[in-house]
Amino acid sequence: MAGVLVTGASGQLGAYLLRELQRRGTPLVAWGGPKATGEIGGIAVQSVDLGNPGETAGSFHAAQPEAVIHAAANARIDLCHSDPLQAERVNVAGTRTLVELCRQSRTRLVYVSTDLVFDGQRGGYREVDPPAPLSVYGRTKAAGETPVLEYKAGAVVRVSLMFGPPINGRPNFFQAQVQSLENRSPMTLFVDEWRTPLSFYAAARGLVAVAESDYCGLLHLGGPQRMSRYEMGLRLAAALGRDASVLRQARQADVPAPEPRPRDVSLDSSRFRLRFADVDWPEWNEALAAMGIPNA
Ligand SMILES: NC(=O)c1ccc[n+]([C@@H]2O[C@H](COP(=O)([O-])OP(=O)(O)OC[C@H]3O[C@@H](n4cnc5c(N)ncnc54)[C@H](OP(=O)(O)O)[C@@H]3O)[C@@H](O)[C@H]2O)c1
Repeated sequence: MAGVLVTGASGQLGAYLLRELQRRGTPLVAWGGPKATGEIGGIAVQSVDLGNPGETAGSFHAAQPEAVIHAAANARIDLCHSDPLQAERVNVAGTRTLVELCRQSRTRLVYVSTDLVFDGQRGGYREVDPPAPLSVYGRTKAAGETPVLEYKAGAVVRVSLMFGPPINGRPNFFQAQVQSLENRSPMTLFVDEWRTPLSFYAAARGLVAVAESDYCGLLHLGGPQRMSRYEMGLRLAAALGRDASVLRQARQADVPAPEPRPRDVSLDSSRFRLRFADVDWPEWNEALAAMGIPNA
């Protein structure tokens, strides 16, 4: 495949997508958001505001991509809550603009969605389960799925919570956890919030494989293991050979939040695994090793 456009290239996942495409020798165009500057991993990143349809269309026509992996979003739950109009502008209207541009040029489109489209009452969600988001973020990401699913060359991949060291030069939660463990500073993690965590590395491989395929429609891509936030902390401490006693257990109810937090948004990835059996699907420790985190 030639000419993949990655939106959100300046983000945590975006940088891993660039690395994966580069590893495959696939020509690419990288778009960051309004905060993007310069380059990532030697690749020039152009700043394009998806909330601005004219700017998006001009840049799209200049790029003439063969496929788009749409990873850009207002992805901060707190910021979506405090500014729902901006979340709508980027996550919903920005996605609609991209779908329309892809439709006009018959370009393949893969939209990165989230496990947070579900309310977390049950867990083990399959593609047939109806979304019921609890947050502005989840609601706008779910609304962004609709035009992609209506487009005949579109695919929506709902990914689980992702983890891994940042390679885009910006701090992330995983890095903060590693630092807490290394500095022995206490960290509080939920024992009653479950996910199927997926490494950025595996997510990027999976998404590029979908972009290269002719698969259209919905797919769930979580990691192979369901675990609580606290369990993730314990596993990370073990992998790093650090003392896990700095990890404090909490329950969701102990920590007030402006929006309810879903309890169990673990994903059932069987459909993805059936269709993309050759794509790496590493367990926690293998995924850490693949991202350069030594296991003790
Ligand atoms: N992280 C997770 O655990 C997780 C889990 C499930 C799904 N997802 C989804 O995965 C995707 C990537 O998430 P991430 O964690 O990599 O998020 P991130 O680090 O916050 O990156 C978001 C990207 O979107 C760009 N962006 C924001 N506003 C934009 C705008 N107005 N126009 C164009 N681009 C804009 C940002 O650009 P600048 O910051 O440079 O402006 C950045 O490149 C998102 O679609 C998210 O919903 C993430």
